[in-house]
Amino acid sequence: MRVIVCNDYDEMSKKAASLVASQITLKPNCVLGLATGSTPIGLYDNLVEMNQNGEIDFSSVTSFNLDEYYPLSPDNDQSYRYFMNLHLFDRVNIDKERTYVPNGLAEDAEAECAEYEKKIADHGGIDLQILGIGQNGHIGFNEPDENLISVTHLTGLTDNTIEANSRFFASIDDVPKKALTMGIGSILKAKRIILLASGKSKRRVVRELLNDNITTSIPATMLKVHPDVVLICDKDAYSEMYLGVDIGGTAIKLGVIDSFNNIVYKDSIPTQKNVTAKVIADDISAACKDIAARYPIGSIGIGTPGIINFEQETVSASNLPFDNSPIVEWIREETGLPVLINNDANCAALGEAIVGEGADENDIFMVTLGTGVGGGIIINKRIYSGKKGGAGEIGHMCIEADGKPCTCGSTGCWESYASVTALIEQTKAAAEENPDSILAKVIAENGKVDGKTVFEAMDKGCEVAEKVFDKYTSYIAVGIKNIVNIFRPGAVVIAGGISVVGDRLLKPIQSKVGTDVPIKISHLKNDAGMIGAALLGKDTRVL
Ligand code: F6R
Repeated sequence: MRVIVCNDYDEMSKKAASLVASQITLKPNCVLGLATGSTPIGLYDNLVEMNQNGEIDFSSVTSFNLDEYYPLSPDNDQSYRYFMNLHLFDRVNIDKERTYVPNGLAEDAEAECAEYEKKIADHGGIDLQILGIGQNGHIGFNEPDENLISVTHLTGLTDNTIEANSRFFASIDDVPKKALTMGIGSILKAKRIILLASGKSKRRVVRELLNDNITTSIPATMLKVHPDVVLICDKDAYSEMYLGVDIGGTAIKLGVIDSFNNIVYKDSIPTQKNVTAKVIADDISAACKDIAARYPIGSIGIGTPGIINFEQETVSASNLPFDNSPIVEWIREETGLPVLINNDANCAALGEAIVGEGADENDIFMVTLGTGVGGGIIINKRIYSGKKGGAGEIGHMCIEADGKPCTCGSTGCWESYASVTALIEQTKAAAEENPDSILAKVIAENGKVDGKTVFEAMDKGCEVAEKVFDKYTSYIAVGIKNIVNIFRPGAVVIAGGISVVGDRLLKPIQSKVGTDVPIKISHLKNDAGMIGAALLGKDTRVL
């Protein structure tokens, strides 16, 4: 099945009309299979216009409609014969004698169906079949069932269809409970098929058409066996995807998630050095445009370090050339897509809350232990940003009055004790105080100290390193205890480079915090920010 995703209903209708017009141009005496319902009305309007402009000629065309209510008179304004006259046959130069619709007043429904099937065959079969699709996956009136009938037949309508179609009737009681319909086999015999789907109500069923399953409980999936079917749908019917951009100092990660939050694509581009903010924004726009040409992207979400002015949608960041830069506006203008922005730590928290370790909880607190200590608060599956943004800056919570001076200008901030930068300082200080320790030797051998040094020394049995790490996890535990006391979230999730050591970090923290609130390690790792950024475009709330 080929898929054409159009921006809206008008574009979809025009596209379908151009394909029908080509069919008529290539074979003026072609046989068209036609559908009713609200979806093909735009297609018929376009065909009428083309006919009136002299672009297409219906004079030799034959048509067979898919179905008709039973029993219902063709004169009834709810009959499909009436619909077709109104929307197409009375407006184009088609010979009405060659327009066939099952007779809703036939005394012998079975004979009418057999004759209808034969008439289609006598005309050489259908060259091009137009189909709509029911929310329950029906085509024609082939309703979901264990057994689908191949040929034209009399069928009962499901409650779902009666309800969906009641919008055309004065009351639901007036909707006929039966219909005559071409069967699945009659439809599949058509040489080519155009299936139309528009609007959000068709999203679920369109999704089913795009996977590999064929099931009688969604009759339209039978179309997957046909060699020449094109699904033309608008963006509303096509399950929307979301693009996430995670801006980092060295790389910009981009990824697409589908409506089920699966990552369907991911990539990264380098963050250019010594360039302006506009150049970086242009790089992001170009990559986003490229992705949007391949996926039905509904929105772009951006996670960025630094400080965001949410009112003006500008960003300032110390490790990037962003200085009140309107990157949202730039990317929105270039891509033509809605663009949303949030802090990268918040995005990572959102990603973790929806598809990671917090997926079972509505409220989580995420702590990122890196160069600094970042935080993200998720309440009811949404980022809590505070009044003007900036909430969750947990790294600057004071854990020691008059403690170490912090880059923020304050003293005793948690990140001065619990960040990886702090661990490195603590490692260095302990080695200096204990020059004969294994730790000091490891440092001398490596010629440097980083976040791994303390683990390397512990692996070699160094007691000094054990003490450093014990103190470090105590600092982390103090902060997490505060978080638990203030928020009592469903879970606290720890992320950041050091979290790769897993239980070695987690177990001492859990035992020192001593709470029934689950403390976990992020499992999305580097993808959390990108996934969370993509999720900015989605309503993730639990309603
Ligand atoms: C109509 C038909 C039905 C409709 C389907 C969608 O002839 O066969 O299968 O195509 O019910 O209806 P709309 O377009 O109104 O959503």
